[in-house]
Amino acid sequence: MSLAYLKFHSVLWLTYCASVTMEWRWASAQVVGSYKLLLNNAGIASMHTAVTRFNTVIMLDRTNIGPSQINLANGKCRNNSLDLVLKHDCTAHSVMFSPGPDTVRPLSIFTDTWCSSGQFLSDGTLLQTGGDFEGKFKIRRLSPCSPSGTCDWVEDSKASLIDPRWYATNQILPDGRVIVVGGREVFTYEFIPRQAGEGSFFLKLLSDTNDFENDNYYPFVHLLPDGNLYIFANRDSILLDYRKNVILRKYPPLPGNPRNYPSGGSSVLLPLDGASGYRSAEVLVCGGAQLGAFRNPSKQLGCSDSCGWMTVTSQRPSWTMESMPIRRCMGDMVLLPSRDVLIVNGAQNGSQGWGYATQPCLRPLVYRPTAPSGSTRFVVQSATTIARVYHSTANLLPDGRVLIAGSNTHQFYTFTGEFPTELRVEAWSPYYLNVAYLPKRPTITRSPRRITYGSVFNVSFFCARTPTSVEMNLVSAGFTTHSYSQGQRLMRMKLGRMAALGSNRYVQTVIAPPNANIAPPQYYMLFPVMSGVAGRAVWVQMIPS
Ligand SMILES: *[C@@H]1O[C@H](CO)[C@@H](O)[C@H](O)[C@H]1NC(C)=O
Ligand SMILES: *[C@@H]1O[C@H](CO)[C@@H](O)[C@H](O)[C@H]1NC(C)=O
Ligand SMILES: *[C@@H]1O[C@H](CO)[C@@H](O)[C@H](O)[C@H]1NC(C)=O
Repeated sequence: MSLAYLKFHSVLWLTYCASVTMEWRWASAQVVGSYKLLLNNAGIASMHTAVTRFNTVIMLDRTNIGPSQINLANGKCRNNSLDLVLKHDCTAHSVMFSPGPDTVRPLSIFTDTWCSSGQFLSDGTLLQTGGDFEGKFKIRRLSPCSPSGTCDWVEDSKASLIDPRWYATNQILPDGRVIVVGGREVFTYEFIPRQAGEGSFFLKLLSDTNDFENDNYYPFVHLLPDGNLYIFANRDSILLDYRKNVILRKYPPLPGNPRNYPSGGSSVLLPLDGASGYRSAEVLVCGGAQLGAFRNPSKQLGCSDSCGWMTVTSQRPSWTMESMPIRRCMGDMVLLPSRDVLIVNGAQNGSQGWGYATQPCLRPLVYRPTAPSGSTRFVVQSATTIARVYHSTANLLPDGRVLIAGSNTHQFYTFTGEFPTELRVEAWSPYYLNVAYLPKRPTITRSPRRITYGSVFNVSFFCARTPTSVEMNLVSAGFTTHSYSQGQRLMRMKLGRMAALGSNRYVQTVIAPPNANIAPPQYYMLFPVMSGVAGRAVWVQMIPS
């Protein structure tokens, strides 16, 4: 055999191996996830949902919606003379859901949380701000607890927001403070807690993008690796140095329809990558309504099938457009630990607003950012039977499933019509939880619970199959409402050596994100992933050294 022959064949063999790897990813992509009904009656339709570090889930509706379907604990009632509907109300408008037993416990919330915003703080407290009517300036906190705990909401009796915030977006910052951006006819941002004498700051992007139907509520806010904020409203976006109140860049407008409320598109910061030094950041924006759909609900204009992604750290940023196989308004985008993006819930016609949408999207999509471009990036998933239109949510759980809750396209709880108020809770299991992948699923057996920036640490795990393509991914728990998960981010950490200890046990050396711009100080789900198959996460806290 000649050397040339050998060389030729080794090239062929390498090509074959590469295509097998690709095929494998592809084959797995073809395997779709499945829905499961967890609970028939959560008592409330969850408009705002957040998963805590105790694996419990805080669900919130609004208070001025009349009676819910669950009573407050111990025969308690709420007397609020400012409530527009029920001044004496013995029902709950927030619950704590416990996955596993799939039970709920009523929580008590006093002022109106309608279309409010939120974020987890460094110590795991859920901060929640604003709302409507008497809730517009309110700051509330919940220090989460395990399923057997008695934690509940506490309203801040001293501090309040500077500006009234209804439909604002919150984001935790590298210094642990929270920025609250925008809201209905509020073209400012402010910080919690604020420094002495600090006011709110005018943000021109918000007044510039406020069209005849608004389309700039719940702006998409992503913290970039350089510590600045990428802010998207309607079709436009900027890079903001919030410390100096300086706009550093203006990005080209995203082609197509408006994307923010009431048009109901969604956005994620695509996974940040430690292997490449977290240098690049990409933003993905998908779906939304046609301009004018909100003002003409009877026309039931078709929703958008377009997505745009942009490398926002690029010197010459531009949008790359892609088409979803199913058009969608009010789709929730969820970062999966496999670094794919789930696009779930919503409708194909109309816009956000009570009774403004039809043709529910029963089939989720999985967007695979690492797949070759074109239609193969989207994998159509099998359908649910439960429509989730306006005021529905989707959140990643630490076991790798996605919790699906809410949907209420009525002013009050209404159990008639095409889209009755939805109290059922489902879980969507991604393909990696299919039983066929069980041998590949890694299980963490040991990991630090607190991680300092830039530190090197070990994660021990068990895996029945010899691990290949191991990833250790940190995923934040977002505050999800109105088709956008505030504060959602994923970091694929840089890896060092992996040692085999025998008996299917391994130790992976991991290098923590270098600073709080990459991973603001928070609790994260640390997911072990092997060849796209995610195992159950453990919660770790990122702390300054
Ligand atoms: C609330 O109001 C009802 C009557 O509307 C009254 O009986 C009850 O004592 C009040 N509860 C509290 C906690 O003030
Ligand atoms: C929904 O939108 C599609 C696409 O624009 C359109 O063809 C269809 O007629 C609309 N459906 C309804 C019920 O209006
Ligand atoms: C990680 O594990 C490897 C292999 O067992 C070991 O050599 C190394 O010292 C450990 N590193 C740390 C930071 O614990």
